[in-house]
Formats: sequence, structure tokens, C-alpha cells
Amino acid sequence: MNARVILVVISCVLSVVTGLVLSHRAEGEAHAGGVNKKPLIGLSLDTLKEARWQSDRDMIVKHVKELGADILDTAANSDDSVQIGDVEKLITNKIDVLIIVPHDGKAMAKAVSMAHDAGIPVIAYDRIVRDSDLDLYVSFDNTKIGVLQGQYLVDHLPTPGKGKIIRIYGAKTDDNARMLKEGQDQVLAPYIARGDIKVVHEDWADDWKPEVAKRIVNAAITEHGGDFDAILASNDGTAGGAIQALTEEGFAGKKMVTGQDAELVACQRIIAGTQAMTIYKPPTVEAVNAAELAVKLALHKPVIAGQSVNNGKVEVPSALSEPIVVTPANMEQTVVKDGFHTHDEVYRGAAASAQKSP
Ligand code: BGC
Repeated sequence: MNARVILVVISCVLSVVTGLVLSHRAEGEAHAGGVNKKPLIGLSLDTLKEARWQSDRDMIVKHVKELGADILDTAANSDDSVQIGDVEKLITNKIDVLIIVPHDGKAMAKAVSMAHDAGIPVIAYDRIVRDSDLDLYVSFDNTKIGVLQGQYLVDHLPTPGKGKIIRIYGAKTDDNARMLKEGQDQVLAPYIARGDIKVVHEDWADDWKPEVAKRIVNAAITEHGGDFDAILASNDGTAGGAIQALTEEGFAGKKMVTGQDAELVACQRIIAGTQAMTIYKPPTVEAVNAAELAVKLALHKPVIAGQSVNNGKVEVPSALSEPIVVTPANMEQTVVKDGFHTHDEVYRGAAASAQKSP
């Protein structure tokens, strides 16, 4: 029988851990409380297009199973109606907890209320669901990622703190893209106000598509030729599109490009010198956090969330991890040491990609 699960957020006054305690009360028998039933987690992904979502999915699935629960996962190919259909199917399959990576952070408020109507708590993974009574948010500090990208750019311009830049933001439908921009703006604002940094071209990349990022840079080059110093790209996918446009014009390696995700191809570009940096967000932290919290919620165990994020409607209890800047200097100590990519994958691939460059 479907249990109505009510999540109550209580300030953690008695706990040594600062934060919020989520606990819940079931009326009648909870799904996972059934005698012979393992907890069942539903995972609804926006997309598997970027390599990061594949490793996130694999790690969440692996960890949920290691914790003795089952999991059903779906990917919506960046389509809101497909994602709503996926959530409907997961609910019909009697999941105990829904983990969702929304395609459109506003549109998926509907998925949250559908799950709640069936008594199912919802965890937003990586991207928040806005304007909803979301139960939990597991992510990295996205504003901080923007700050790290902006600060890296400012510090590594040919003349530090001065120059002309192109900015590529992510998908307008993704609240992370807004938070990244906000973090970047915090760093850039005083330089822009003094006229030390000039944004010569800026645009949003629909659905974070590399081909859109490429078109943005093509348009910038048509307008300004090579008269710019750097591209502040919000993730590795858009950085890849930007670098393709630079390569076609013979500028690859001559203009600094930022990124995010520590995708293998981006790490190879960093070693080859066509991308300057990326942001590593270990899925071992984020995915494992989400898996553990989901299984705890399914088993009606108390959950501690150390932070909160306002989603436009409520303060959502949140578990936010720290992002790491990756450059050639710490590639070995970060992504390689963690086994996220092997040394050979990064360095042999880098040599191959450098040979291919014109
Ligand atoms: C994620 C990034 C990812 C982007 C595109 C964002 O919400 O935080 O890691 O590159 O979506 O999928």
C-alpha cells in the first residue's frame, strides 16, 4: 500500500552536527517498510548526453545496490514531457524515493507534486527544482563554481585582471546556469565596472549544446576577429564547442578557455594546452551522498543536511560539496588519483589530440 510520507524539517539543536534533520512519519505501512520488500529508488535524469551524467548514473545505481536497495533509472533526452512521463512510470512502479535531475528546473515542480501526491519524497540531484516543496537537494556549491571559474580567468589573463572576454552561459532552463553566472559576476563586476575587463560577446547555450557554444564563438569572431583574450565557458561541453570554433580560425591554445566537469576530453585538452582549466566535482561524493540519503529516506531513517538553498518557494535542506579547480599542475593529484580517469587516458589522449590540432 502506498504510504503517505510526511517530511518534517527540524532544526538540529541537539545534534553535534550543525544542520537540519529530516525525519518522516508514515501513516500505515511504508513501501520500504513491507516485510519482504527492498527499498526502491527511482532516478529520473534529464539526459545522458554529457559523459558526466553517465558516470553519475552508474555510481548512483552501484551505490544504491550496495546499500541493499533496488533502483529504476530513466533519461528524458532533454524533453520535459518525456521527463514527466518517466516520473509517472516510476511512481506507477511504486518507488519509495524519487531522485531527479530536472531538464527544466521550473517545469519539474509538477514532477515534485506528482510524487508528493503519491507519498514519495523527492531529492533534486545536482540541479534544483524551483518553486516546489522539494525535500532535499544534493549538489555542489554552484555559485562557488562560478566564482572559481571567474577568478581563474581574471588571474590568468595575459595581463592579469585586464582583457577582453567572451562569455558562454549554460541552459536558461537550468538554475545551475544562473547560479554559475551569479558567481562569475561576483568576481568580474569590479573589473568590468573599472573598464579593465570588457565582455565583447555573451550568450546562453540552449540545453548546454556544444554546437550552440560553437555558433556563439563563431559569431564573436565574425564581429571581433581575434581581438579577445579568453572565453569564460560554463562547462566542458560548451568549452569543447568554443575550442572547435577557435581551432577553425587558428586560435586554439592562444585564447584561454575555462570549463567544468573534468570530462575526459576536457582533461586531455588541458594537458594538450587548448583548454586552461576545468572544475572537478567528484561523483564519488555527489552520487554517493544522493544514494545514501535516498536509501535512508526510504528506510525512514533521519537524514542530516548541513545547508539549505532557497528554491523560490521554500528553504530546501541541502548537502552541497566543494568543487575543485583542475589544471595541468594538479591533474595527477585529483582526477587521476581518484581513478576518475587513468593517467594513460588523459596523457596519451592529450598527445593524440595535440597531434590532430592544426
Ligand atoms: C551541471 C553541469 C553540466 C551541465 C550540462 C549542469 O546542471 O551542473 O555539471 O555540465 O548541467 O549537463
